[in-house]
Amino acid sequence: MRLDKYVTYAGISRSAAVSAIKSGRVAVDSIIAKNPAEKLSDTALVTLDGEAVDGSEFVYLLMNKPSGYVCEKNRPDSVFALVPEKYSRRPLSVCGRLDKDTEGFLLLSDDGDFVHRIISPIKHLPKVYLARLQNAVTDSDIKAFENGLQIDGGDVCRPAKLEIAGDAVLVTITEGMYHQIKRMFHATGNEVLYLKRVKTGGLSLPETLKTGEILRLSENETARIFR
Ligand code: URA
Repeated sequence: MRLDKYVTYAGISRSAAVSAIKSGRVAVDSIIAKNPAEKLSDTALVTLDGEAVDGSEFVYLLMNKPSGYVCEKNRPDSVFALVPEKYSRRPLSVCGRLDKDTEGFLLLSDDGDFVHRIISPIKHLPKVYLARLQNAVTDSDIKAFENGLQIDGGDVCRPAKLEIAGDAVLVTITEGMYHQIKRMFHATGNEVLYLKRVKTGGLSLPETLKTGEILRLSENETARIFR
């Protein structure tokens, strides 16, 4: 790969990479590099202002989203404000939004194909949510979720699994309509008091990942989602 392309992985544009190289801020294997077109070996260590540049083409970040943060960009209460600076200049997208008051499993990536595979409405990737509710669920609620609930007198949901888990419930859905879980419970005369996404496909939120923390996943780890 050309040096100037590699330096863009630091989150800067190609022209900013070229000027950083020309002004002597970039080193390859500890030697200041001056030629933006230099071809790098596979093992080259590139630094910008003394900091190693992470040359991965894409990153996959799993956040345990805290309540109080939105999935839109450019807001002080945005989940993107929680992303460490070394990734923050990458063109990250969230893979399936969560409401401001919902916590838990939130993937962010700059791999457009990956994001599409997660959010594509035709893939029907299962997502599991833990919910605490105002009222206890009944057998008829479980059946109604299984049969496909109609919400707000309009959309009919795909069959969903509702399981009791102590004083909470686990809900598995295979789509992602706006406020879907809250609207499903509302349709059964109940209200969601607390909501957390705990799993997407075959990948669970690690219990060790604290609220607000981010774990960088390898490409192999992301493959578990689709298993
Ligand atoms: N369903 C909801 O109601 N809210 C979320 O954040 C996710 C799913």
